[in-house]
Amino acid sequence: MTPNLTNKVVLITGASAGIGRATAVALAQAGANVVLIARRQKRLAALVEELAAYPGQRLAMAGDVGDEAFVQTAVAEIIATFGRLDVLINNAGLGHRSRLADMPAADMHRLWDTNVMGLLYFTQATIPQMKEQGSGHIINISSIISQRPLPHMSLYCASKTAVNFISRALRMELRSYHIRVTTVYPGRTQSEFGDALLGEKGANPTRLARVSADRVAQAIVKAIHTGKTEVYITGTDWLFAHFNRLFPRTTDWLVERIAARRDT
Ligand SMILES: NC(=O)c1ccc[n+]([C@@H]2O[C@H](COP(=O)([O-])OP(=O)(O)OC[C@H]3O[C@@H](n4cnc5c(N)ncnc54)[C@H](OP(=O)(O)O)[C@@H]3O)[C@@H](O)[C@H]2O)c1
Repeated sequence: MTPNLTNKVVLITGASAGIGRATAVALAQAGANVVLIARRQKRLAALVEELAAYPGQRLAMAGDVGDEAFVQTAVAEIIATFGRLDVLINNAGLGHRSRLADMPAADMHRLWDTNVMGLLYFTQATIPQMKEQGSGHIINISSIISQRPLPHMSLYCASKTAVNFISRALRMELRSYHIRVTTVYPGRTQSEFGDALLGEKGANPTRLARVSADRVAQAIVKAIHTGKTEVYITGTDWLFAHFNRLFPRTTDWLVERIAARRDT
């Protein structure tokens, strides 16, 4: 059943593609006022038009989440428009496929600015309003591979591990203000992520099956309703996370074998 989000103001970053776009559609279907953030203005404008079929208002702002000044302006505009901000979904993200030894410093900065600094800027800009309201929900999109490193994806995994730790610490810091914090751990998902990768494009070393972006979107929207703190999309993801925790060296061995197969 779709939860009713009428009158809620929900901000989602990375709304122009993949999981963010699918989540924006699901939020609009649930009646929310949706704020769409991404760099590609035309994509956002087309999405606003598409979402006109559903109840609630839309506000689209094109910019880079790694640009602190843009983030502050965007959040100020949201509060000026709606007078509140109920849910922040930090979804914008970027991957890479490259050995750490070969990764250009510019790529490292770009990835970290998007996956970590962007999330921090939006979170910091949003918290004062949520505290004033006495309620709020911050949803951070991590990844199942935040729980263990994969070869050729070291900095991406590290950035998502940072997201997990930030989320857990924030949850404790914000509990007394009635601001909830959820971490979502998608596994491989159909999106434009593989095309946008920094470094080498091509086959994913894990060769795992992909779930649809719609399925991840439904899980995110459900989390707004339930307030669940840790969200896995499939039973296999949950098993992987717990197997890895119990048997880290066996998981390393398995992952290395899969990566070696790809390298030959
Ligand atoms: N796909 C997967 O297998 C998978 C698995 C686990 C976790 N995730 C995570 O899920 C999230 C969404 O990824 P996706 O799979 O939906 O990828 P995607 O299809 O490539 O979408 C990424 C979104 O982020 C936006 N974005 C990227 N850099 C940005 C920046 N600097 N400023 C503003 N927006 C930016 C992109 O829009 P513009 O280019 O228009 O800016 C796009 O809307 C990411 O955090 C990713 O790490 C994905």
